[in-house]
Amino acid sequence: MNETSTALLEAAQRALDSVVDPASGSGLHAAGRIHGLEFDAASGRLSFTLEAPAGEGERYQSTREAAVNAVQALTGVREARVVLTAAAAEKSPRPLGIVAIASAKGGVGKSTIAVNLALALQAHGLRIGLLDADVFGPSLPTMLGTLHARPSVLPNKTIQPIMAFGLQTLSVGYLVNPEEPMIWRGAMVSQALRQLLEDGAWGEGGQPLDLLVLDLPPGTGDAHLTLAQRGPLAGAVIVSTPQEVALADVRRGIAMFERTAVPILGVIENMAYYETSAGERIPVFGEGGARRTAHEFGVPFLGEIPIDITLRASADHGHPLVASQPSHPVSLRFLEIAQSLLNNLARAQRPLPSIRFV
Ligand SMILES: Nc1ncnc2c1ncn2[C@@H]1O[C@H](COP(=O)(O)OP(=O)(O)OP(=O)(O)O)[C@@H](O)[C@H]1O
Ligand SMILES: [Mg+2]
Repeated sequence: MNETSTALLEAAQRALDSVVDPASGSGLHAAGRIHGLEFDAASGRLSFTLEAPAGEGERYQSTREAAVNAVQALTGVREARVVLTAAAAEKSPRPLGIVAIASAKGGVGKSTIAVNLALALQAHGLRIGLLDADVFGPSLPTMLGTLHARPSVLPNKTIQPIMAFGLQTLSVGYLVNPEEPMIWRGAMVSQALRQLLEDGAWGEGGQPLDLLVLDLPPGTGDAHLTLAQRGPLAGAVIVSTPQEVALADVRRGIAMFERTAVPILGVIENMAYYETSAGERIPVFGEGGARRTAHEFGVPFLGEIPIDITLRASADHGHPLVASQPSHPVSLRFLEIAQSLLNNLARAQRPLPSIRFV
């Protein structure tokens, strides 16, 4: 290589460093994006490869043009040949297991429990995702303070979860305007869930999730069947209040999951009692019903959560209790329940079927 060529290649490197690499913010050459830089003095042709990060090819088209312009401005360069490459992005790694929080009856506290249990599981050192599968009345955006979050769609067409309190979260509430009434049909419910579950870029930074917690809508409808039959559920947690009417629904819930061979990881009794400032426990909705029902069906009982104003208010304000007051007595309950859940999960662990939908 003669001196002219060497000087030109150095000038080309400097020119390429005047173009900013979108991913790192430094110059393209300094960022290591330029490969195979060559100059053919006879034809005046400069050629190189610009390597975009995995899946970012689209985003680097304008960077490629800027690189071409930068080197073409150099004296002696008659032609610039720039090949843009990008490694194919891999689909995000699948979560190790999906735990569904379910109840046949509405308003018993599934979402409150899903959020705080997810945080408690995270406090046990696990990487946790939280998916709001309630397409009719998504409440996680309110409880997590992410009402105005809009997830971005990555170049490989996956949806980037919204980070909230260290959790990776997705909700239909992020995708539709909560003000607009949505009329869902069965097929749309399955489709929306499939998209959030399968196309969610779960596992940020290539770090796979340990568990995905799923907040289900009440009942035993389309969402449940879709997931129970075709989703890789590691198990279900059934939430109930102590009332007899709620317990009848627990029996239905247990029966549904058993029919679809989803292991029941346990029953949580929510709104179990109200504790006065004097320490007296008032069983507002009756006593111990969920525990008895769990025993009757031979499924584990995970624990009780009392009626608690701070628990309710923290959810309403988008600062879930386990994150905002981790040493609150109710937060400690969630930590204990999370530990029992993990023990039961380890016992129930079985090979997971691959995700497949209709
Ligand atoms: N232990 C509790 N103490 C006080 N309030 C609670 C408790 N659990 C839930 N709540 C409150 O009860 C209401 C219903 O709870 P939540 O939305 O979690 O129930 P859900 O089962 O998810 O309802 P849906 O069936 O509509 O999805 C909320 O306002 C919540 O803050
Ligand atoms: Mg809910």
